[in-house]
Amino acid sequence: MAYTVPKLADYSAAALTSAAAECVRECAREANRVRTVAELKAFRDRWLARKGGVLTQINDLWLKNAPKEAKREAGMGVNQLKARIQEIVASAIAPPVEPALARCETVDRVDVSLPGIRRPIGAEHPVMRASREMCAVFQRLGFSIAEGPVVETDYYNFEALNFPPNHPARDTQDTLFIAGQQSKPQRERLLLRTHTSPVQIRTMEKMRPPIRIVIPGTVHRNDPPDASHSPMFHQIEGLAVDRNITFGNLKGTLDHTMKEFFGSSVKTSFRPSFFPFTEPSAEMYVSCFICGGSGNRESGPCRPCKQTGWIEILGCGMVDPNVFEFVKDNGYDPKKISGFAFGMGADRIALLKYGVDDIQLFFQGDVRFLRQWA
Ligand code: DAH
Repeated sequence: MAYTVPKLADYSAAALTSAAAECVRECAREANRVRTVAELKAFRDRWLARKGGVLTQINDLWLKNAPKEAKREAGMGVNQLKARIQEIVASAIAPPVEPALARCETVDRVDVSLPGIRRPIGAEHPVMRASREMCAVFQRLGFSIAEGPVVETDYYNFEALNFPPNHPARDTQDTLFIAGQQSKPQRERLLLRTHTSPVQIRTMEKMRPPIRIVIPGTVHRNDPPDASHSPMFHQIEGLAVDRNITFGNLKGTLDHTMKEFFGSSVKTSFRPSFFPFTEPSAEMYVSCFICGGSGNRESGPCRPCKQTGWIEILGCGMVDPNVFEFVKDNGYDPKKISGFAFGMGADRIALLKYGVDDIQLFFQGDVRFLRQWA
């Protein structure tokens, strides 16, 4: 039988004590029976609810009816009782798992022969794989990997790469700026790096020449997504600085790496271009390994090379002496050393290498697409 609050006929100290003790005992008994979260709530409401809870009833039945001379004693006794009941209710706990496990523990226990939950093994993302394989080709030539932050300052992303403030070449990069930076000097303002080139400067600040590094990483630009653009994409940057580095070294290195990566039959072609941080600058093309350079396939015109037989792969050039001026104190005196640099899109080389026709597929997280690289 559930506990109900009795009326007090006798207001003697002994009668009060024994009525209170019974109340505490009953409350503790009910607390022990709580098994579920729902039961815990019902238990708490039954004892503490302002309207009709057991403590409210005790207030009404025991205090309000107490004769004048017993009011003080009864008040103190009821206060103590309330504190005790609140303690019991507060310490009542529901078991964390509801009926299924409770039943399982008491009736049939856990069945260890049931098959476990299989956690599928992931696969390397095609962009990461292309990037790792390209970097590996350079590593075999003696390059090491360098990395830098994705949230970058204007100084590293632009200024130290010879993009002066307000230079129009900055407009070509559709930069995404971090909000609320206007009060800072321009060079300290934060942005999402638009290329991996800032890591050239960061590495030259830390390491004296000679250096040979490749820099894989994520970059952002305010480009609307389409089949060949994504506001987030990946680049692989390269930098070699030493005495007597020449454009011939640049061509030989890149020609070798492209043959390693795309196949030994590809040819490379360098065409003049402009980047603020290299002089001279070039764009490098590889002969189309899809149509063999003819511009046509059996099925019709070759789309990846737009029927030209050549595919643009990267930008490159000889490091501009103005760039070395920013790190001159660390041994990069442009009169004594020279270097070459290059930068390519990792997503783009993954598209080409794996014959994927839409960059968006890389970032939609569709397991049916990604499983092809498992
Ligand atoms: N940072 C350039 C871009 O994102 C690519 C690039 C061109 C990097 C020439 C280089 C380079 O290191 O020498 O458009």
